[in-house]
Amino acid sequence: MRLPDEVAGSLLFTGVDEAALEIAAQALRPMSFNAGQKIFDAGDEGSALYIIQRGKVKVSHCNLDGKEKILAYLSPGKIFGEMSLVDEQPRSATTMAVKPTILYALYAEEYWGLINRFPRIAHNLAKIVAQRLREMNHEVEVLTFEESRGKIAYALLKLYRHEFGEPTKRGRVLPLTQRELADIAGTSRETVTRVINEFQELGYLHNDTGLIEIYNPAGLERVLYDLE
Ligand code: CMP
Repeated sequence: MRLPDEVAGSLLFTGVDEAALEIAAQALRPMSFNAGQKIFDAGDEGSALYIIQRGKVKVSHCNLDGKEKILAYLSPGKIFGEMSLVDEQPRSATTMAVKPTILYALYAEEYWGLINRFPRIAHNLAKIVAQRLREMNHEVEVLTFEESRGKIAYALLKLYRHEFGEPTKRGRVLPLTQRELADIAGTSRETVTRVINEFQELGYLHNDTGLIEIYNPAGLERVLYDLE
């Protein structure tokens, strides 16, 4: 079996040759999920990591009041579930397919077999985790120091960079209500409405009901770094 391009091209396999990819293909198991279907819950036992071939996965966490905090939207080629695989602790977040999704699962036993033969894969995984930690450090800084404008600009840029939504001629359209954006940015819906109108006037995005089209991410970056 040959791995689909999105899976073979994932960061997990950077620098790994064709022969190793063929062996990896035997270890990976394809699985399909419908839109809205749960993949696993935070707190579950877990012994596999997943590579997204097609679709989109939401990573989220609920606080004690049951309020959902969206941590990330992941697109094809991205990996999740590596934390429980490596530290053998319960799942740290809940994951759900937000559209029809195909995943390639790599179970612990196959993972250890693979990295014994191809240590580059373990190095790649460490790199993915390090990148996520960098992103999280940046996010902590934004949530601690930024005003609402910065938090909303950051949330929009994060979704944009994670390739959430669909590309358009001018940029990218995010299927997102203002309530959902408020939950991601950690601010109120009223504030989101005010700031989105401001960003629209500045020419960074266009807002329609339930859709935000970003066509000037550089403008949002300037907001984030207090240049505007
Ligand atoms: P694991 O804890 O096994 O299961 C939940 C997964 O969600 C976790 O591994 C990571 O792969 C992923 N995850 C957790 N937190 C984040 C985050 N902040 N951003 C992106 N992915 C995350």
